Order: sequence, then C-alpha cells, then structure tokens
Amino acid sequence: MSDSIKNPLYDAQQTAFAEKLKDMLLARHGKKPKAYIVTYGCQQNVSDSEKIKGMLHVCGYEFTDSPEDAQFILFNTCAVRGHAEDRVLGNVGAMKKHKKENPDIIIAICGCMAQQQVNADRFTKSYPYVDIIFGTQVTHRLPEFIYKRITSQKRIKELALDNEKIVENVPICRDGTFKAFVSVMYGCNNFCSYCIVPYVRGAERSRESKEIIKEVEELVAAGYKEIMLLGQNVNSYGLGLKEDINFARLLRRINEIDGDFRIRFMTSHPKDCTIELLETIRDCEKIERHLHLPFQSGSNRILKMMNRRYTRESYLSLIESAKEIIPDVTFTSDIIVGFPGETKPDFEETLSLIKQVEFLSLFTFIYSPRNGTPAAIMDDPVSREEKGEWFSRLLKLQEEIENKKREEYIGKTYRVLAEEISVKTGRLVGKSSNGIGVEFPANKNLIGEFCTVKIIGYENAFIGEIIR
Ligand code: SAH
Ligand code: SF4
Ligand code: F3S
Repeated sequence: MSDSIKNPLYDAQQTAFAEKLKDMLLARHGKKPKAYIVTYGCQQNVSDSEKIKGMLHVCGYEFTDSPEDAQFILFNTCAVRGHAEDRVLGNVGAMKKHKKENPDIIIAICGCMAQQQVNADRFTKSYPYVDIIFGTQVTHRLPEFIYKRITSQKRIKELALDNEKIVENVPICRDGTFKAFVSVMYGCNNFCSYCIVPYVRGAERSRESKEIIKEVEELVAAGYKEIMLLGQNVNSYGLGLKEDINFARLLRRINEIDGDFRIRFMTSHPKDCTIELLETIRDCEKIERHLHLPFQSGSNRILKMMNRRYTRESYLSLIESAKEIIPDVTFTSDIIVGFPGETKPDFEETLSLIKQVEFLSLFTFIYSPRNGTPAAIMDDPVSREEKGEWFSRLLKLQEEIENKKREEYIGKTYRVLAEEISVKTGRLVGKSSNGIGVEFPANKNLIGEFCTVKIIGYENAFIGEIIR
C-alpha cells in the first residue's frame, strides 16, 4: 500500500474526531490498533475503501490482512446482485463468534447494501454485534462514527442520502503504487429497470474539473502510470456543474497534463457516448483505445423494458463509428441473461449481436431481482435452468469468438504497462493500450513501467516479447 495520504484536514470536525480517537484507541487497546477491510463490488467501492483506509490512518490505525489481528473490521458491501449480498451476509455472520470472544473490537458495515433500508434494518435486528452501519454518502464521517460508538456505547446507524455536496480532499491510502482510481462523478440518474445502483448511490453528481485535474497532476507527479477515471456513467460527466464542460473535454484536459501515463475510464453508457468522445480518444495519445460499452441485451423489446434508451441498431452504429474513428479499438461489454419476460428469440438477438461486434471479452450475468426496482415485479416465467442453458450457450459462443479473434492480434506490437509477475506462469503480466492482456518474460524491475511488446503466440494467455 502506498503512503499517499494527502491533506488530513479535509474537514475540521472529522479531523478533530480523528485526533481524539488516536489517543483513545491507544489507551483502549494498549497498542496501535489495526484495521481489517473487506471490499465487495465495483471499482467505485474499491476507491471508497481507499478513502476509508486514508481516514483510518489519520485516526491512528494500521492495517492487517487477518481479522483475528484487527480491532476494527469493516465490510464495504455491494448490492448489485443476490450473490454479492449472500457473500456479505455469510462473512458478517462469521463475525458473531469473533466479537463474542473480543468484545472490544468494532465491526462496521457500509456501502451499497448498507444503504438499503431493508438491509440496514436486517443488520440492526439480526446482527446485533455490528456496531456501525453507514451509507454511501456519509463515508467521510467515519472518524465521528467510531468516536461516537466508543464514547456513547450506542450502536451507530447513518444512512443520509442528500445528493448534495461532494466532500473533496478526503485522505486516501491507495492500494496501488502505479495504478490509481479517480472518481469523476458519483451516483446514477438512469434507473435501468433491473438496477439497484441509483437507489443506493443517489443522484448523479460531478466533481469540479479543477479538483479532478489537481488529483491527476498529483498522481502523475508521484509516478502513477495509469489513471482510471470512475463513474457509473462517465459520459454524462458535467451535469449540474456551473462550468461549461463535458466528459470529452475533461479527457482532453487530462491528456494535456505533462508526463508519461495512460488514461482509462469506465463505465460508458451507450446512450450518452458521442462522436465527440470517439474523436477525443483518437486525438489524445494517453487515452486507451478501448471502450467498455455495456449493451445488456441485443433485443429492442428487452432494451425498452430495461429502460436503456438506445436500440440494437443505434448501439451497432456506435460500434461502427468507433471502429472507423479509432484504429485498433477494442470493446468489452456487460450482458444480462434472463431479464424478466426475455424469450428465446430475444436471447438469440443477444447472441447475434455478440457475433457481429466480436468483443475482446464479456462480463455476463444472470438476471437477479433487486427489491424495489421496477423489474423485480415483472413477470419472470423462464426457469432458472433454462436461463442457465442460455448463459452457457452465450459463454461458449464468446469463447469461439475469442479463439478466432486471437489470430488477429498475433504479430502486433503494443505499448504494455507491466503490472505484476504471474504466480502461475512466473511471467510478467500487463495490459496493452487497447486493453489486451499479455504475458512476457519476467523482469521485476519493469513492474509499473511501459514496455513495447510484440505478441508472438497464445498459451492460455497472449505471450509477447519485449522489443524495446
Ligand atoms: N453503470 C454501469 C454498470 C453498473 S452495474 C453501466 O450502466 O453499465 C454492472 C453490471 O451489473 C451492469 O452493467 C449489469 O450488466 C449488471 N447488473 C446490474 N444489475 C443487475 C441485476 N439486477 N441482475 C444481473 N445483473 C445486473
Ligand atoms: Fe445501473 Fe443503469 Fe445506472 Fe448502470 S446506468 S448504474 S446499469 S441504472
Ligand atoms: Fe455494487 Fe454499489 Fe458498485 S451495488 S456494483 S458496489 S455501485
């Protein structure tokens, strides 16, 4: 973990709580306290956990990978699918015994699942050993929550969702030393009918561009090589800001920052992905040649029921434009199989879209009903088994496409950011400027550096050689 804690004075009140906690925790535990953080869900949650660690650091905590060593245990949860929730419930449940044996430890639950009233109530009632429950928009008040828990002996529950301000300058303990997440916006206004995110993250709020630029400048100056810009729908960046800006223009400004680094971003909603954005990617050498563009379903009927606000045709035409405008561009996507009322012919349309686009890779999900969303009360007559069969067919087709596409990449040369040594193969693993994963001969000194790599073959992964 890097020690890039910046400006501990993000909020005078919280800093005061943190200062008081520092001494109090030392006295309470007789040593420097340790925190154990478990993060579920998307990059937004990972990024939030980095801020949580930043704040805990200011409160005097060190970090541990083992819950047995920890005096503070936090679960940052995800509510996007039932499976994500089940894992959280199982792991929080396992804390019961631990807390009984160590009554001095503090257990906290935050994130998207905690934000849902029904889950927050469930944690309150059925998990009495959980000390602190807090939602997605009050994360910056963590020092206060811990302080109040210790001094008042009362359990803390804070789920305010005011959708108003963005708290800047929260200290950050970044997990990576050369790759960093930078949120450009929070929340989502799209209300896709299956999705819980707008309810648990609140309305869209964009950060002022000067704050984003300042953060990226600091990261680049500190040697970071990859900046991943985050938002549920980055293409609607700028909405509600006083300044006249959009995502494409923000990207151009970040691209102008001096230094050798790569810009990535996710997620792009197809309805808001503009030609201006595609031209910006083409024009800016630091932006990766890759678009993560979830289409969810290839059937117009289902897209309409999902409230996605684009059609199969407009999606395909966007892909065509991107291929024309950006040489070597690759695509990845998210797909939901078995949305309520989806029929076999609808599903076949998803398959045919996959064949047509030939994605680099796919993130595929079986529909999971989310309480409180419109889709949760739609008729869903297709059995789990049949959805499972469709799902397997989709995976098989994508595998065939990936096998076929492989030939296209062999012989090509890319700029690759070397990320780590693979435990399995002992080779260096990295990603090309258009999102292709490649392995090449190990040299630990190259981790965190850009290498020019020629793809020469495939053995469970693309194999490359460094040519410069
Ligand atoms: N904002 C991003 C994605 C957020 S959630 C976007 O719009 O693309 C990530 C993915 O989870 C979604 O793209 C979708 O494919 C999947 N997902 C969301 N809700 C789901 C549900 N109820 N069941 C199954 N998959 C779901
Ligand atoms: Fe969910 Fe749709 Fe918003 Fe993505 S755009 S977070 S799928 S509501
Ligand atoms: Fe999950 Fe919340 Fe992200 S629901 S996918 S952690 S925004």
